[in-house]
Amino acid sequence: MPAFKVAVLEGDGIGPEVVSSALKVLEEMGKLSGVDFVFEKALIGGSAIDQKGTPLPQETVELCLNSDAVLLGAVGGPKWDNLPTEQRPEKGLLGIRKALDLYANLRPAKVYEPLIASSPLKEEVARGTDFVVVRELTGDVYYGEPRGVFFQDGKRVGVNTMKYTEDEIRRVVRKAFEIARQRKRKLTSVDKSNVLEVSGLWKTVVEEEAKSYPDVELEHLYVDNCAMQIVRRPSSFDVIVTGNIFGDILSDEAAVITGSLGMLPSASLGDKYALYEPVHGSAPDIAGKGVANPIATILSVGMMLRYSFGLKKEADFLDKAVELTLQQGYRTPDIYSEGCIKVGTEGMTEAIIQAVRKLWQE
Ligand code: IPM
Ligand code: MG
Repeated sequence: MPAFKVAVLEGDGIGPEVVSSALKVLEEMGKLSGVDFVFEKALIGGSAIDQKGTPLPQETVELCLNSDAVLLGAVGGPKWDNLPTEQRPEKGLLGIRKALDLYANLRPAKVYEPLIASSPLKEEVARGTDFVVVRELTGDVYYGEPRGVFFQDGKRVGVNTMKYTEDEIRRVVRKAFEIARQRKRKLTSVDKSNVLEVSGLWKTVVEEEAKSYPDVELEHLYVDNCAMQIVRRPSSFDVIVTGNIFGDILSDEAAVITGSLGMLPSASLGDKYALYEPVHGSAPDIAGKGVANPIATILSVGMMLRYSFGLKKEADFLDKAVELTLQQGYRTPDIYSEGCIKVGTEGMTEAIIQAVRKLWQE
C-alpha cells in the first residue's frame, strides 16, 4: 500500500478543530482508495511562540522538509497582536513559505449555487463565478530589501522594496499558464505597469511566456481595474496571475464575493514541496466552540490529493461530496440560512464523509 507522510501544523484558534476534521476526511479517502496516510504534528504560530519562544521552530521546518505534503490550520490571535513584527505568529507562515520555496499560491474563488444568496453581489452577477488566483508567494515587498524604518535628517522613514527577478516571475507565470490549460484556457495577468518598473518587467515576461501557450487566451489588467472587474464581471475570469501584494489583496476580494470565506481552500506550491491551508484565519472568537466551518480545510485536503498525490479521481469525489452536502442543506452557522440543517464542525465533517461514501459506492 503506498504511504504518504503529511506534516500537520494545526496553529492557533480554530486551526486544531478544522485540521482534525480534514484529517478524518483524508483518512476516509485513504481507506476507500487503498492509500495510507501518516500524520505527524508540529508547532507553528502563536502556540509555537508560547511553547518554544519562536513562531517557526527549526524542528517544524525539518518535519516539513521530510514530508510529502504539509497541512496547516491557521495562525494568530489577539494574545500575540502586540508583539513586534519579527516575533508575530504571521512570521511563522512567511517563514515556512520561504523555507519550502512555495512560490505559487492557488486560491480558488467559487460561488456555490446553494449559497449564492450569501454573496454580497447580485445573484445574476455572482452566478457561475469559478476562478483561481495564482499569487506569487516568495517575492515582492514581502521579502524585498532594503526594508525597515530608518532615520533621515532626524525624521523616521519607512521603507519596503518591491522587487522581482525575471526568473521569479517566469516560474509562477508558467505555473499559471499550465493551470489555465487544465481549466477554461483564459489567463489574466495583473500588474501596475503604468507606474511601476517592476510591473513593466512582469508584463514583458508574461508576454514572452505567452508564446509557448498560444492555446491560452491572455488578458492584461492593471490592479486597480482588476479590483473593479472582479466585482463587475467575476464569472468572466478563469485564472488570474499576479505578484505577492496584489495577490494578497485581490484574493481577499475574490474570497468575499463567494459569500463564504469558510469555504475557500488554498494550495502553496513549489517545485519540491507543497502546503495546503484554508484561506480563512484563526477566528479566535469562535475557537473551541465546535462551530467552525471545516469545509475550507477539507477542500484544502482535496487540493492536496490533486496536486501532491496525483489522486485526481479522489479529489473530484471530495469536491462533489462537499457540493452534495450543501445541496442536502447542511450548514455551519457562518453559512446558515433559514430552512437549512444547522450543524457544528463535527456534524458537517460527518455529513461530508457520508456523502463521500455514498458517491464512491454509486
Ligand atoms: C494571507 C495573509 C498573510 C499574507 C498574512 C497573515 C501574513 O494575509 O495569507 O493572505 O499577507 O500573506
Ligand atoms: Mg491575505
